[in-house]
Amino acid sequence: MPIPARSRRALFCLPFIALPLMAQTQTQTQTQAQAQAQTQPAPGYEPRRGQPGKDVIWIATPDAAVDRMLQMAELRPADRLVDLGSGDGKIPIAAGRAQGARATGLEFNPELVELSNRRAAQAGLAGRVDFRKADIFTTDFSDATVVTMYLLPELNLRLRPILFRMAPGTRVVSHSFNMGDWMPDETATVGTASLYLWRIPANASGTWRVSAPGLADAPRQFRFSQRFQAVEGAATFDGLQADAVRPLLSGDTLSFGVRDAGGALLQVQARVDGGRMRGTLAHSDGPGQAFEAVRVGEATPIGGVDAGAQEIGRALKVLD
Ligand SMILES: C[S@@+](CC[C@H](N)C(=O)[O-])C[C@H]1O[C@@H](n2cnc3c(N)ncnc32)[C@H](O)[C@@H]1O
Repeated sequence: MPIPARSRRALFCLPFIALPLMAQTQTQTQTQAQAQAQTQPAPGYEPRRGQPGKDVIWIATPDAAVDRMLQMAELRPADRLVDLGSGDGKIPIAAGRAQGARATGLEFNPELVELSNRRAAQAGLAGRVDFRKADIFTTDFSDATVVTMYLLPELNLRLRPILFRMAPGTRVVSHSFNMGDWMPDETATVGTASLYLWRIPANASGTWRVSAPGLADAPRQFRFSQRFQAVEGAATFDGLQADAVRPLLSGDTLSFGVRDAGGALLQVQARVDGGRMRGTLAHSDGPGQAFEAVRVGEATPIGGVDAGAQEIGRALKVLD
Protein backbone atom coordinates (compact mmCIF):
# COMPACT_ATOMS: atom_id res chain seq x y z
CA MET A 1 0.00 0.00 0.00
CA PRO A 2 1.48 3.42 -0.96
CA ILE A 3 2.39 5.65 1.96
CA PRO A 4 0.72 9.09 1.75
CA ALA A 5 3.11 12.06 1.27
CA ARG A 6 2.31 13.54 4.76
CA SER A 7 3.17 10.23 6.50
CA ARG A 8 6.38 9.87 4.41
CA ARG A 9 7.49 13.34 5.62
CA ALA A 10 6.70 12.37 9.22
CA LEU A 11 8.68 9.10 8.94
CA PHE A 12 11.60 10.96 7.38
CA CYS A 13 11.64 13.50 10.22
CA LEU A 14 11.39 10.82 12.94
CA PRO A 15 15.14 10.09 13.31
CA PHE A 16 15.91 13.81 13.59
CA ILE A 17 13.45 14.16 16.45
CA ALA A 18 13.93 10.77 18.10
CA LEU A 19 17.74 10.52 18.04
CA PRO A 20 18.47 13.80 19.84
CA LEU A 21 15.67 12.91 22.32
CA MET A 22 17.20 9.48 22.91
CA ALA A 23 20.64 11.05 23.37
CA GLN A 24 19.18 13.57 25.83
CA THR A 25 17.38 10.81 27.77
CA GLN A 26 20.56 8.74 27.87
CA THR A 27 22.54 11.74 29.23
CA GLN A 28 19.79 12.32 31.82
CA THR A 29 19.88 8.66 32.86
CA GLN A 30 23.68 8.82 33.15
CA THR A 31 23.46 12.00 35.29
CA GLN A 32 20.78 10.40 37.50
CA ALA A 33 22.89 7.27 37.89
CA GLN A 34 25.93 9.38 38.82
CA ALA A 35 23.88 11.35 41.36
CA GLN A 36 22.53 8.11 42.83
CA ALA A 37 25.99 6.62 43.01
CA GLN A 38 27.08 9.70 44.97
CA THR A 39 24.23 9.37 47.53
CA GLN A 40 24.05 5.60 47.72
CA PRO A 41 26.26 4.19 50.42
CA ALA A 42 28.83 1.58 49.45
CA PRO A 43 27.38 -1.93 49.92
CA GLY A 44 29.22 -2.39 53.24
CA TYR A 45 28.33 1.10 54.57
CA GLU A 46 27.96 1.25 58.34
CA PRO A 47 27.34 4.55 60.13
CA ARG A 48 29.92 5.64 62.69
CA ARG A 49 28.69 6.28 66.26
CA GLY A 50 28.91 10.04 66.83
CA GLN A 51 29.10 10.92 63.13
CA PRO A 52 27.83 14.46 62.45
CA GLY A 53 24.20 15.03 61.44
CA LYS A 54 22.40 18.22 60.41
CA ASP A 55 21.27 19.32 63.90
CA VAL A 56 22.50 16.40 65.99
CA ILE A 57 24.98 13.55 65.68
CA TRP A 58 24.02 9.92 65.08
CA ILE A 59 23.91 7.52 68.02
CA ALA A 60 21.46 4.62 68.00
CA THR A 61 18.92 4.05 70.77
CA PRO A 62 19.73 0.70 72.47
CA ASP A 63 17.36 -2.19 71.57
CA ALA A 64 15.87 -2.52 75.08
CA ALA A 65 15.04 1.20 75.11
CA VAL A 66 13.43 0.97 71.64
CA ASP A 67 11.17 -1.87 72.88
CA ARG A 68 10.21 0.16 75.94
CA MET A 69 9.49 3.30 73.86
CA LEU A 70 7.03 1.32 71.73
CA GLN A 71 5.41 -0.14 74.86
CA MET A 72 5.04 3.31 76.41
CA ALA A 73 3.43 4.56 73.18
CA GLU A 74 1.04 1.57 73.36
CA LEU A 75 1.74 1.06 69.66
CA ARG A 76 -1.06 -0.79 67.86
CA PRO A 77 -1.27 -2.18 64.29
CA ALA A 78 -3.48 0.75 63.22
CA ASP A 79 -0.91 3.34 64.33
CA ARG A 80 1.31 5.40 62.04
CA LEU A 81 4.68 6.00 63.68
CA VAL A 82 7.22 8.62 62.61
CA ASP A 83 10.78 8.69 63.95
CA LEU A 84 12.27 12.18 63.74
CA GLY A 85 15.92 11.77 62.74
CA SER A 86 15.68 8.04 62.11
CA GLY A 87 19.42 7.21 61.90
CA ASP A 88 19.89 3.57 60.86
CA GLY A 89 16.11 3.03 60.90
CA LYS A 90 15.89 0.79 63.94
CA ILE A 91 12.81 2.39 65.58
CA PRO A 92 10.48 2.32 62.52
CA ILE A 93 11.72 -1.19 61.65
CA ALA A 94 11.02 -2.37 65.23
CA ALA A 95 7.53 -0.77 65.02
CA GLY A 96 6.79 -2.60 61.78
CA ARG A 97 8.09 -5.88 63.20
CA ALA A 98 6.42 -5.70 66.61
CA GLN A 99 2.94 -4.53 65.70
CA GLY A 100 2.74 -4.51 61.92
CA ALA A 101 2.25 -0.75 62.25
CA ARG A 102 3.04 1.58 59.37
CA ALA A 103 6.15 3.54 60.16
CA THR A 104 8.24 6.25 58.52
CA GLY A 105 11.69 7.55 59.32
CA LEU A 106 12.63 11.13 58.46
CA GLU A 107 16.39 11.46 58.20
CA PHE A 108 18.57 14.21 56.72
CA ASN A 109 21.54 12.00 55.85
CA PRO A 110 20.81 10.26 52.48
CA GLU A 111 23.24 7.41 53.21
CA LEU A 112 21.33 6.55 56.39
CA VAL A 113 18.04 6.77 54.45
CA GLU A 114 19.35 4.35 51.82
CA LEU A 115 20.72 1.98 54.47
CA SER A 116 17.41 2.04 56.40
CA ASN A 117 15.30 1.36 53.29
CA ARG A 118 17.58 -1.57 52.48
CA ARG A 119 17.22 -2.96 56.01
CA ALA A 120 13.42 -2.54 55.89
CA ALA A 121 13.33 -4.45 52.58
CA GLN A 122 15.58 -7.20 54.03
CA ALA A 123 13.16 -7.51 56.97
CA GLY A 124 10.24 -7.93 54.51
CA LEU A 125 8.73 -4.61 55.63
CA ALA A 126 9.16 -2.54 52.47
CA GLY A 127 5.41 -1.96 52.01
CA ARG A 128 4.83 -0.76 55.57
CA VAL A 129 8.06 0.88 56.68
CA ASP A 130 9.79 3.57 54.66
CA PHE A 131 12.47 6.21 55.06
CA ARG A 132 12.69 9.62 53.46
CA LYS A 133 15.44 12.19 53.21
CA ALA A 134 13.90 15.15 54.98
CA ASP A 135 14.54 17.93 57.45
CA ILE A 136 12.25 17.29 60.42
CA PHE A 137 11.66 21.03 60.87
CA THR A 138 10.32 21.60 57.34
CA THR A 139 8.44 18.33 56.78
CA ASP A 140 4.77 17.71 57.55
CA PHE A 141 4.34 14.61 59.74
CA SER A 142 0.98 15.64 61.20
CA ASP A 143 -0.76 12.41 60.11
CA ALA A 144 1.34 10.30 62.53
CA THR A 145 -0.31 8.92 65.67
CA VAL A 146 3.01 8.11 67.40
CA VAL A 147 6.14 10.29 67.25
CA THR A 148 9.51 9.07 68.47
CA MET A 149 12.75 11.03 68.78
CA TYR A 150 16.28 10.99 70.15
CA LEU A 151 17.45 14.52 69.51
CA LEU A 152 18.54 17.32 71.87
CA PRO A 153 16.77 19.43 74.50
CA GLU A 154 16.58 22.60 72.40
CA LEU A 155 15.42 20.64 69.32
CA ASN A 156 12.63 19.11 71.43
CA LEU A 157 11.59 22.63 72.47
CA ARG A 158 11.57 23.78 68.84
CA LEU A 159 9.31 20.82 68.02
CA ARG A 160 6.88 21.52 70.85
CA PRO A 161 4.53 23.94 68.98
CA ILE A 162 4.56 21.60 65.95
CA LEU A 163 3.61 18.63 68.16
CA PHE A 164 0.78 20.59 69.79
CA ARG A 165 -0.84 21.06 66.37
CA MET A 166 -1.18 17.26 66.04
CA ALA A 167 -4.40 15.37 66.83
CA PRO A 168 -5.23 15.04 70.55
CA GLY A 169 -4.16 11.63 71.80
CA THR A 170 -1.02 11.50 69.62
CA ARG A 171 1.78 9.89 71.69
CA VAL A 172 5.23 11.44 71.72
CA VAL A 173 8.14 9.41 73.10
CA SER A 174 11.61 10.87 73.54
CA HIS A 175 14.84 9.10 74.37
CA SER A 176 17.12 11.02 76.74
CA PHE A 177 15.66 14.50 76.54
CA ASN A 178 12.57 16.07 78.05
CA MET A 179 10.42 18.94 76.79
CA GLY A 180 11.42 21.67 79.25
CA ASP A 181 8.51 22.62 81.50
CA TRP A 182 6.00 20.38 79.64
CA MET A 183 5.82 17.58 82.20
CA PRO A 184 5.72 14.03 80.80
CA ASP A 185 2.75 11.73 81.38
CA GLU A 186 5.06 8.76 81.96
CA THR A 187 8.81 8.20 82.41
CA ALA A 188 11.11 5.17 82.54
CA THR A 189 14.81 4.43 82.79
CA VAL A 190 16.18 1.49 80.82
CA GLY A 191 19.87 0.96 81.55
CA THR A 192 21.23 4.48 81.18
CA ALA A 193 18.45 5.63 78.83
CA SER A 194 15.82 8.02 80.20
CA LEU A 195 12.53 7.75 78.33
CA TYR A 196 9.62 10.22 78.35
CA LEU A 197 6.04 9.92 77.09
CA TRP A 198 3.56 12.72 76.44
CA ARG A 199 0.03 12.58 75.05
CA ILE A 200 -1.02 15.59 72.99
CA PRO A 201 -3.93 17.04 74.97
CA ALA A 202 -7.18 18.37 73.55
CA ASN A 203 -7.95 21.99 74.30
CA ALA A 204 -10.47 21.95 77.18
CA SER A 205 -10.13 25.64 78.00
CA GLY A 206 -13.04 28.06 78.15
CA THR A 207 -16.61 28.07 79.35
CA TRP A 208 -18.87 25.13 78.54
CA ARG A 209 -22.68 25.14 78.65
CA VAL A 210 -23.80 21.76 80.03
CA SER A 211 -26.95 19.89 79.07
CA ALA A 212 -27.83 16.76 81.10
CA PRO A 213 -31.56 16.11 80.78
CA GLY A 214 -31.44 12.90 82.88
CA LEU A 215 -30.01 14.50 86.03
CA ALA A 216 -32.06 16.92 88.18
CA ASP A 217 -29.17 18.58 90.05
CA ALA A 218 -26.70 18.66 87.13
CA PRO A 219 -24.16 21.46 86.77
CA ARG A 220 -25.07 24.23 84.31
CA GLN A 221 -21.58 25.23 83.32
CA PHE A 222 -17.94 24.13 83.41
CA ARG A 223 -15.02 26.52 83.13
CA PHE A 224 -11.41 25.42 82.56
CA SER A 225 -8.01 27.00 82.09
CA GLN A 226 -5.18 24.89 80.70
CA ARG A 227 -1.38 24.86 80.58
CA PHE A 228 -0.01 21.95 78.52
CA GLN A 229 -2.13 18.98 79.71
CA ALA A 230 -2.73 20.44 83.19
CA VAL A 231 -6.26 21.76 83.65
CA GLU A 232 -8.00 23.48 86.51
CA GLY A 233 -11.54 24.66 86.64
CA ALA A 234 -14.92 24.72 88.28
CA ALA A 235 -18.55 23.76 87.77
CA THR A 236 -21.47 26.10 88.33
CA PHE A 237 -24.72 24.82 89.83
CA ASP A 238 -27.76 26.95 90.77
CA GLY A 239 -26.32 29.45 93.29
CA LEU A 240 -23.07 27.49 93.78
CA GLN A 241 -19.63 27.22 92.24
CA ALA A 242 -17.48 24.19 93.07
CA ASP A 243 -13.88 23.60 91.99
CA ALA A 244 -13.04 20.53 89.89
CA VAL A 245 -11.50 17.82 92.11
CA ARG A 246 -8.40 16.07 90.68
CA PRO A 247 -9.03 17.07 87.05
CA LEU A 248 -7.10 14.93 84.58
CA LEU A 249 -6.79 15.48 80.84
CA SER A 250 -5.23 12.62 78.90
CA GLY A 251 -5.37 13.16 75.14
CA ASP A 252 -9.02 13.97 74.49
CA THR A 253 -10.34 12.37 77.71
CA LEU A 254 -11.20 14.70 80.57
CA SER A 255 -12.19 13.41 84.00
CA PHE A 256 -12.77 15.16 87.30
CA GLY A 257 -14.99 15.16 90.36
CA VAL A 258 -17.24 17.97 91.50
CA ARG A 259 -19.32 18.28 94.68
CA ASP A 260 -22.92 19.17 93.83
CA ALA A 261 -25.43 21.36 95.71
CA GLY A 262 -26.49 18.45 97.93
CA GLY A 263 -22.85 17.75 98.91
CA ALA A 264 -22.48 14.53 96.89
CA LEU A 265 -19.42 14.01 94.72
CA LEU A 266 -20.33 13.80 91.05
CA GLN A 267 -17.81 12.06 88.79
CA VAL A 268 -17.48 13.57 85.32
CA GLN A 269 -15.98 11.62 82.42
CA ALA A 270 -15.96 13.21 78.96
CA ARG A 271 -14.35 13.29 75.54
CA VAL A 272 -13.43 16.71 74.20
CA ASP A 273 -13.96 17.08 70.47
CA GLY A 274 -13.25 20.64 69.34
CA GLY A 275 -16.06 22.81 70.74
CA ARG A 276 -18.08 19.85 72.02
CA MET A 277 -17.80 17.60 75.06
CA ARG A 278 -19.74 14.36 75.47
CA GLY A 279 -19.68 12.02 78.44
CA THR A 280 -21.29 10.87 81.67
CA LEU A 281 -22.05 12.35 85.09
CA ALA A 282 -22.24 9.75 87.87
CA HIS A 283 -22.80 9.81 91.64
CA SER A 284 -20.88 7.04 93.41
CA ASP A 285 -24.14 5.21 94.20
CA GLY A 286 -25.93 5.82 90.90
CA PRO A 287 -25.76 5.03 87.20
CA GLY A 288 -23.98 7.38 84.80
CA GLN A 289 -26.17 9.96 83.03
CA ALA A 290 -25.22 11.14 79.57
CA PHE A 291 -24.39 14.81 79.13
CA GLU A 292 -23.24 17.13 76.39
CA ALA A 293 -21.55 20.48 76.63
CA VAL A 294 -20.75 23.13 74.05
CA ARG A 295 -18.07 25.75 74.39
CA VAL A 296 -19.38 29.29 74.72
CA GLY A 297 -17.12 31.60 72.72
CA GLU A 298 -13.56 30.80 71.69
CA ALA A 299 -11.02 28.42 73.21
CA THR A 300 -7.95 30.07 74.70
CA PRO A 301 -4.68 28.85 73.06
CA ILE A 302 -3.15 26.13 75.27
CA GLY A 303 -0.76 27.81 77.69
CA GLY A 304 3.01 27.22 77.78
CA VAL A 305 3.41 25.68 74.32
CA ASP A 306 5.74 28.21 72.66
CA ALA A 307 9.14 27.96 74.30
CA GLY A 308 10.57 31.38 75.12
CA ALA A 309 14.19 32.38 74.42
CA GLN A 310 14.95 31.93 78.14
CA GLU A 311 13.76 28.32 78.14
CA ILE A 312 15.73 27.50 74.99
CA GLY A 313 18.77 29.16 76.59
CA ARG A 314 18.35 26.94 79.67
CA ALA A 315 18.09 23.87 77.40
CA LEU A 316 21.32 24.82 75.64
CA LYS A 317 23.07 25.21 79.02
CA VAL A 318 22.16 21.59 79.90
CA LEU A 319 24.61 20.55 77.20
CA ASP A 320 27.48 22.85 78.23
C1 LIG B 1 20.79 10.61 67.94
S1 LIG B 1 20.39 10.01 66.32
C2 LIG B 1 18.95 9.03 66.63
C3 LIG B 1 18.71 7.96 65.60
C4 LIG B 1 17.45 7.12 65.83
N1 LIG B 1 16.28 7.93 65.98
C5 LIG B 1 17.61 6.26 67.08
O1 LIG B 1 17.03 6.63 68.12
O2 LIG B 1 18.30 5.25 67.03
C6 LIG B 1 19.73 11.51 65.55
C7 LIG B 1 19.56 11.44 64.04
O3 LIG B 1 18.96 12.64 63.59
C8 LIG B 1 19.48 12.98 62.31
N2 LIG B 1 19.22 14.42 62.11
C9 LIG B 1 19.87 15.47 62.66
N3 LIG B 1 19.29 16.64 62.31
C10 LIG B 1 18.23 16.32 61.50
C11 LIG B 1 17.24 17.08 60.82
N4 LIG B 1 17.17 18.42 60.92
N5 LIG B 1 16.34 16.42 60.06
C12 LIG B 1 16.38 15.07 59.95
N6 LIG B 1 17.29 14.31 60.58
C13 LIG B 1 18.20 14.91 61.35
C14 LIG B 1 20.94 12.60 62.43
O4 LIG B 1 21.52 12.41 61.15
C15 LIG B 1 20.85 11.31 63.26
O5 LIG B 1 20.78 10.18 62.42
